[in-house]
This record gives sequence, C-alpha cells and structure tokens, in this order.
Amino acid sequence: MCGIVGYVGQRPAELVVIEGLRRLEYRGYDSAGIALVDGGALVTRKKAGKLANLEKVVDADPLPPSTTGIGHTRWATHGAPNDVNAHPHPGATGRVAIVHNGIIENFDDLRARLEDDGHQLVSETDTEVVAHLLELQVVSGVDLTTAMQRVCSRLEGAFTLVAVDGETPGLVVAARRNSPLVVGLGEGENFLGSDVAAFIEHTREALELDQDQVVTLTPEGVSVAGFDGTPAEGRPYHVDWDLSAAEKDGHDWFMRKEIHEQPRAVADSLLGRRTRSGALHLDEMRLSDQELRDVDKIIIIAAGTSFYAGMVAKYAIEHWCRIPVEVELSSEFRYRDPILDYSTLVVAISQSGETADTLQAIRHARTQRSKVLAICNTNGSTIPRESDAVIYTHAGPEIGVASTKGFLTQLVACYLLALYLAQVKGTRYGDEIAEVMSQLEEMPGHIETVLSRADDVYALAAEHVGTRSVLFLGRHAGFPVALEGALKLKELAYIHAEGFAAGELKHGPIALIEQDLPVLCVVPPRGRDQLHGKMLSGIQEVRARGARTICLAEEGDPSIASYADVLISLPRVPVLLQPLVAVVPLQLFACELATLMGHDVDQPRNLAKSVTVE
Ligand code: F6R
Repeated sequence: MCGIVGYVGQRPAELVVIEGLRRLEYRGYDSAGIALVDGGALVTRKKAGKLANLEKVVDADPLPPSTTGIGHTRWATHGAPNDVNAHPHPGATGRVAIVHNGIIENFDDLRARLEDDGHQLVSETDTEVVAHLLELQVVSGVDLTTAMQRVCSRLEGAFTLVAVDGETPGLVVAARRNSPLVVGLGEGENFLGSDVAAFIEHTREALELDQDQVVTLTPEGVSVAGFDGTPAEGRPYHVDWDLSAAEKDGHDWFMRKEIHEQPRAVADSLLGRRTRSGALHLDEMRLSDQELRDVDKIIIIAAGTSFYAGMVAKYAIEHWCRIPVEVELSSEFRYRDPILDYSTLVVAISQSGETADTLQAIRHARTQRSKVLAICNTNGSTIPRESDAVIYTHAGPEIGVASTKGFLTQLVACYLLALYLAQVKGTRYGDEIAEVMSQLEEMPGHIETVLSRADDVYALAAEHVGTRSVLFLGRHAGFPVALEGALKLKELAYIHAEGFAAGELKHGPIALIEQDLPVLCVVPPRGRDQLHGKMLSGIQEVRARGARTICLAEEGDPSIASYADVLISLPRVPVLLQPLVAVVPLQLFACELATLMGHDVDQPRNLAKSVTVE
C-alpha cells in the first residue's frame, strides 16, 4: 500500500527512482511523484493516476541531472487521488520533501497547531503535516537525521517516511513504524524501497530495519538509530530471487504469469520438508514439540484470499489432528475480545507479511500469552519477525495485486502445518503422513494438467463478457474455493459474484437464481461419504430454477454429466487437497474475463497489494 523509493549514489537518480516506482506500482496507483536534489534545491514532479502520467509530465518538463532522489506511488488514504495530494510533499519553504506510506493518526491535532502558527497547508493529506514539521527542524539548523528522529517521536500511527533536504545532496533519510521499508546495499550507492523489488536490478544485498528506527543513507554508507537517537544495527540478508522473477516473462499480465508459476511454487514450498527417515521437518518451526503438544485450540487469522486458505486449513487440521480450529478475519479479531491463553496457537497467514490488520491481531494475541506462528511469503517482513515461529512459502515475488500463487503456497503450508501437528501429537501414524506428503508431491503435476486445459476456460470466459452476476458453490474444502473464485471475479472483472456453501442455498440465496444465471460449482471428489451426492443435489436445485451450471468435477465422474451445462475436468485428488487444483480454473476464468473486458488485471481499481493500513 503505497510504494516508496529512495536513491543516493552515482547514477541518474531519475532513472533509478522511476524504475523502482514501476516495480512497486502494484502497491498503489492513484498517483505518482518524484523529488530530486539539484545543487542547492529540490525539483519535484507529481501527477494523479498511474506512473505513466508522471512519465508524461517528466517528458514534457524534464528533470535536471541528480544523484539523490525519492519517489512515491500512492494508494490514497487521506485526501482524493489528485495532483495536489500526490507525494512528495514539501515543507513550508520547499527545502525539504517527503514521501509517506501509512496513516499519521494524530495529524488533525498536529495540523491545527501548525495552522495556528501560520502554516498554510495545501493538500488534504496527513503527510504534508510531517513535511512542515521536518522542515521547521531543518531550517533551525538541525541535521535531517536528528530532525526525522524528533518528528517521528511526535507521530502516532503507522508510517514509513523518506525525506531529502534540497540543501544537502547525497543524503536520504527514512523512518519506519509498522510499515514496510527495506534498505538496498550497493557499492558507492544505496537504495530504499517498500520492498526489495524497488532495487532488485541493482543489488540483492538488503538490510532489514526494526520498528521505530531512522536510517541515514549516503553513497558511502548506511547508519541506523532509534527514534531516541540510540545507534542500532540493521539485519543484512541476501535476496534469493532476481530481476527475472519480477518481470512478466512474455505474459500479458503478472497475474497470468503467476498462475502459470504455480506448479513450481507448490513444488518449491514442499521442498526439503522431509528428513531422511521420512519424518516431517519444518525449518523455522521455533516452537518445541512440547509447546505444540500443549496446544488445545488453534485460531487462524488472515484477510482476503489468505483467510480462505485459513478456512481450508481448518478442515485439514481438525481432520488430521483433532484440535479445534477457529478461523477469524484479522480485522475483527482483537475487537471481539477473543479468549486466548498460552495453550492457544494463533496462526497468522499473510502473503506480504505486512497486512496491518493481521499484524495488529498477532500483537494482541501475544499480549494474551498465545504463541503465534506465521505463514508468510515475504522474507524479512514484519509479521514473521514478530511471530514465535514461521513457515515460509516459496512462491517468489507476487506482483499481480490479486493473489494466486500466494494462495496455493499458503494451502501447502497449511497442509504441512496440519501434518506436522499430527506427527507431534501422534494423531496420525507416520505412514499416513508420508502418504499425504506423497499425494502433495504429486500436486504440481496435477496443477500442470489443469493449466494445460486453460484454453477451455478462456473460451468459457469469452462467453461471459457482459455477465452481471455469477454465483459460486462449494462444500467442505470446496466452500473456500467458491469464496475465492467469487473474490477473484469481483476484484478483477468488477462483476457481482458471491460464493456460498451449497447446503446454505435453500436457506436464502436460492432466491437469487434466475434464468441463465451462471453458477460455478466445485464438486467434491467421489468418496465414501455423502458429500459428493449432497453437492449434486444442490446443483440440481439451482439448475431446476434455470441456472446455467458450470461444474468443476474430477475426471471420470460419471454422475456429473447430467447436472452440468459446462464441465471442467479436474484431476482425481483427495478431497482435502482438491482446493489446490480446483481454484486454478477459477483464477484463469477471472483473469481472462477481466482481460476481455479491458480491465487492468494486475492493478484492479481501488486496490493495492500489501494493505498496510487498518
Ligand atoms: C485478493 C488478495 C487479498 C489478500 C489480502 C491479504 O486477491 O490478494 O485479499 O489476500 O489483502 O493479504 P496478505 O496475504 O498479504 O496478508
């Protein structure tokens, strides 16, 4: 949510900053802006809309050569997405400029005080207030680093701030509290970014910062201190992916590329999880076997797509481990005063590792003495750092705003967690666990099979251009898949879509069914229980009322033909693992339909990747 870039070194800062913004644009695209230090002054350009609009402004009104600069791509919080509210924001005299991600919660109060002192603020943002406060310090003779420390100590809320002083070329100063910021370490140059994608083409050496720290960058070095000025050390790490992972690789959208990367992402997330003896081993499971044996309740917290992964986890954990599991939206969690104690394990699922709702929820859980385990795709992000244990997924960078490979790898991590708990608690025998692991290891091949039939799904999507409403039905582990299918369609194609548990239909939603309404049905595999048959009854109920049924069912299922207007075949897999294959056609369907409708699939309207405000 908002992308931030900073650069100081020998190269043209304009090129480095604009390229960094291009790689971070998925974080917000309401406006973009850049400020460079030119001799003794600042030069700023900013524009509402996507980065391309800023580039037009810069083409028409070129920037001077400079080797010090900051940039911003915005997801609007305070103030409309217009030119005036775009970042960077200058202080009162234009000597200092800042970019900001997050929300300054006490900005009203600070703004009122500044206005009482005669300051004229021109934007509606909370950011401009900080620019004025920072500049007041700097013009009084305080260096930019100390000024940042003093100002940050007065701020409430979550923020990443990056500042330059027009009178001090070769210096960029940044601060963070509850909002992402990474330093990129170069030779004779240094970088800042909301994430490493901002500078991955220049360096793969990064420095992780803690909360409430200020970092000072010059071409020669980087120094870190707390808001109180106490010197500190960042944590250096090597980024294990490169530029090619952050490019589209011949696909029209990052999302389509990421859908096709899923077999590899799933395989990578399973890699190295078994010891020679065949037992499950999770690298960063920093909780002891005894601590896990003491767990008598699990609460899973997550948002959006990650929440649906959590719903699947509930089915898996309860089935394999016999531990009660609650799944809760992280934005609701701490406000309902949940019952937690040391024997509750809280599992936080977050692709980005920065989602503010989830972060606040885990903080609440830890104050109640619960252990927190994170499932996360982003090394060095805040949520795993603040958790007691972590299972990293290995999806690689997810750039498309809508989560795809992030979701599939979260599912893998959830299955691994469930199996690991079963192993530790002894609720399943080793050979049963090994059998599920083998089934999981076959999943990349099954996902490939589904992807090889993408053209059939694309043809189906072409038939639905202009459709105004679509329903999704599922049961058991297929229910979260239905919810995820509906979410993908809403966020990408802007089509009204709802997911329902098929058994709930008759309790109300069936009233929505009308002639030719498309209903996508996730049919559970045939098994020994009645799940499959009950799902067929649900499909029959909507079909009898005129719905057009599009059924996702395992291949060779003889019973489905007479219920399906359209049939999408899925490989035969166990019911608990079916989400890994069933969701893929739904991702392809939403991606293709949105493309055909002329929407920007990677940057859907009003959305941003990594929601770092509550
Ligand atoms: C939807 C989507 C979002 C995220 C949600 C949580 O396609 O991507 O619903 O799943 O914002 O994000 P993370 O997993 O980063 O916490």
